[in-house]
Amino acid sequence: KLESLAYPESGLQCDDHQVNTHILSKDPLVIYIEHFLSPFEADEIIRISAPHFTPSTTFTGGTEKFDPSVRNSSKAQIPRTNLVKCIESRAREFQGWPRDTFIERLWAQRYGTGGHYVHHYDWGHAGGRHSGRRDSSFMVYLNGGSEEELQGGGTNFPRLEPPKMDDANSVEARRWCKFIECEGEKTVAASKVVDGVTFKPIKGNAVFWQNFRSDGSGYEESFHAGLPVTAGEKYGLNIWSYRHPGHRPKV
Ligand SMILES: *[C@@H]1O[C@H](CO)[C@@H](O)[C@H](O)[C@H]1NC(C)=O
Repeated sequence: KLESLAYPESGLQCDDHQVNTHILSKDPLVIYIEHFLSPFEADEIIRISAPHFTPSTTFTGGTEKFDPSVRNSSKAQIPRTNLVKCIESRAREFQGWPRDTFIERLWAQRYGTGGHYVHHYDWGHAGGRHSGRRDSSFMVYLNGGSEEELQGGGTNFPRLEPPKMDDANSVEARRWCKFIECEGEKTVAASKVVDGVTFKPIKGNAVFWQNFRSDGSGYEESFHAGLPVTAGEKYGLNIWSYRHPGHRPKV
């Protein structure tokens, strides 16, 4: 794990960047982020990842396997260009520069039509004897937002409570329906009832969530899936933050 951390670089110059944020849940903390990446940045990540894609694997009982019934996608470790380092730094800044938390090397994911990832946790080796843990996750959408480009491929959290939309607040609360699938919408998942909250892939936007409570226990609500892509191709960027108290980069 420690070999795959990306340490901040002193002297890195990044352009100013503004995001819009909306809290979906406070416990666990789940925040929806608009414009986490600009359209140019999203395209650029896809471009530099393209030569590096290989089939995604999963770990079951400690062994690495390719099993398309569980996870059918390709992954690419993204080369650390200046832009990528600035995105790592943006992810640290968003979290308030936590001292003992480090960004893992970034990965891009590509799902073709029929691609998916069944419900899972990002916990990694939670419950193991390690002092480190994958504290938080960002799911950043590198494309999506138009039906010609991509259908399906939402990120579903079956155990998260959807925002309440009743008579008193429905007009405002329905603004969530831009980002999540709402009842009564004709969507991808329409053929199948999906519980909880499903985020639509929208280019440049991101979902941030906490995987662990401060006592180290995992949040069951962080259980999530990449729903099947029904048309087109989906590209995503994973940003995982690894908390390892006492660890310091080698200088
Ligand atoms: C996996 O995804 C590819 C497209 O990327 C699709 O052609 C194939 O049918 C899928 N396989 C399974 C087993 O779902």
